Amino acid sequence: MAAKWTPDSWRSQKGIQMPFYRDADALASVEAQLGQFPPLVFAGEARNLKADLAKVVTGDAFLLQGGDCAESFAEFHPNNIRDTFRVLLQMAVVLTFASKLPVVKVGRMAGQFAKPRSADTETIGGVELPSYRGDNVNDIAFTPEAREPNPQRMVQAYNQSAATLNLVRAFSTGGYASLDRVHGWMLDFMGRSPWAAKFEQMADQIGQALDFMRACGLDAETVPQLGATSFYTSHEALLLPFEQALTRQDSLTGDWYDTSAHMLWIGDRTRFEGSAHVEYLRGIGNPIGLKCGPSLEPDGLLRLLDTLNPKREAGRITLITRYGHDKIEAGLPKLVRAVLREGHPVIWSCDPMHGNVVKAANGYKTRPFDRILAEVRGFFAVHRAEGSFGGGIHAEMTGQNVTECTGGAIAITDEGLADRYHTHCDPRLNAAQSLELAFLLAEMLNEELKERRAAA
Ligand code: TRP
Ligand code: MN
Repeated sequence: MAAKWTPDSWRSQKGIQMPFYRDADALASVEAQLGQFPPLVFAGEARNLKADLAKVVTGDAFLLQGGDCAESFAEFHPNNIRDTFRVLLQMAVVLTFASKLPVVKVGRMAGQFAKPRSADTETIGGVELPSYRGDNVNDIAFTPEAREPNPQRMVQAYNQSAATLNLVRAFSTGGYASLDRVHGWMLDFMGRSPWAAKFEQMADQIGQALDFMRACGLDAETVPQLGATSFYTSHEALLLPFEQALTRQDSLTGDWYDTSAHMLWIGDRTRFEGSAHVEYLRGIGNPIGLKCGPSLEPDGLLRLLDTLNPKREAGRITLITRYGHDKIEAGLPKLVRAVLREGHPVIWSCDPMHGNVVKAANGYKTRPFDRILAEVRGFFAVHRAEGSFGGGIHAEMTGQNVTECTGGAIAITDEGLADRYHTHCDPRLNAAQSLELAFLLAEMLNEELKERRAAA
C-alpha cells in the first residue's frame, strides 16, 4: 500500500531538476505568499477537462495540445498570446471539420515556465554557472547574478499566468473564438502557402454549413457552442514548491487539485520510480500527462499507471510519446500492447518535437519539419497496426512567424534559422508550419477513423 499522500509528501522522495535556493527564508516567504493567492483554475474545470478527455480514450474526440516550449517574461505580450491562441483554434477547426470529432483544446500556456536541463551547470569560455531552468527560476543571461535561482520569480510567473489566463478566457467566450469568424482567421501568409487553396476551400465549406444552420435558426445567439469554445491550460509540473503552493482542497469533493493549471504533465526525466514528481502528481485530481520516451519499458509504464491512476479513471492519464522519427515504429508497439493487455484507459498523444532535435551546421538547435511529420506518420501507423486509437498531438508552436524549425511548405533553410530565432528553449513550429501539421494530421486521423468505423 502506498503511504498517505499530502501536498508536501513529495519532499521525502527524490526530487531532481529543481533549483537550489540559497536563501531558505526568502523561499519560505514566497511559498507562504503564493499559498494565499487565488487559485488560477477551479477543480470543476479540471473535472470538465477529464470528462472531455475520457471521450478521447474511446475514440470519440481528439486532443490538441500546444504552445511554447517555455513561456518567458520577455515575450509576454497580448499579441503573442492572441496569435498562439488563434493558430491553435485554426488547427482545431481543421481537425474538427476533417474528422467530424470534437477537439479538446489544451494550451501549453499560462504557466509553462520551468525547464528540465541535461546538466546542472553550463560552461562558456571556462566560466561555469548554473543552467537556465526557466524564467520562473532564473534569468537566461550568462552572468552569476542572472543565473542565481530567485524565488521572487515564482510570484512574477504566477502574475503572468493569471493575466494570460484571463485573456485566454476572454478570447474563448467573449466572441473572438466564434466559428463565424473563421473567414477572418485566414492569416496573411496563408496566401503564400501551398495549403492556402485547401484552407480556403475548407473555410468556404464551414461558412456554408454555418449559413445553412443560420437559415434553420441555429447561430451563435441561439446555440452558444457556435460562439464560444472551451480552452484549457497545461504545463510541466516541474517546480514543485510552486505547484504545492497552488494545491488546494476542493470544497465540493474534499479532493486535492493543483489549481495552477487544468492539466499537468511529468517529463521524461522525472517519471522514474521514487520520484518526487510522481509522488506529487499521484495525489492531485487533475488530468495528468506522462511523457514516454525510448527508455520507458512496459513494466515501468504499468507500475506508473497503477500509481497514478489506481482507480483506472478514463481521462486521468494522457501518454505523450516522444521517440524520434526513426525510433517510434520500433519502440512504441510494446508500450501499446502492454497497456491494451492490462486494460488501462489512456489517451495516446504524439509529441513529434522532442525526439527530433538536431544541430544545424551553423550551430542552431532545430527540428526538421520532415522528421516531425515522419514521427506523426509512424505514430498513427503503430496505433492502426495495434488496434488502439492515436488520439492526440502535443506540439511546441507559436503564432509568431519565427524561423526555428527547418522545412515546411514555405521552406526554412539552415541559413534562414538566423532570421527570427526567438525561442527561450526548444525550436517551435511557426504559424504556417502548425497549420500544415494540422492538415496532415487531419488526413491521417481520417484514415484511422475510416478503418475504425468500418470495423465497428
Ligand atoms: N464550441 C465548439 C468547439 O469548441 C465549436 C467552436 C466554436 C470551435 N469556436 C471554435 C471549434 C473554434 C474550433 C475552433 O469545438
Ligand atoms: Mn521543449
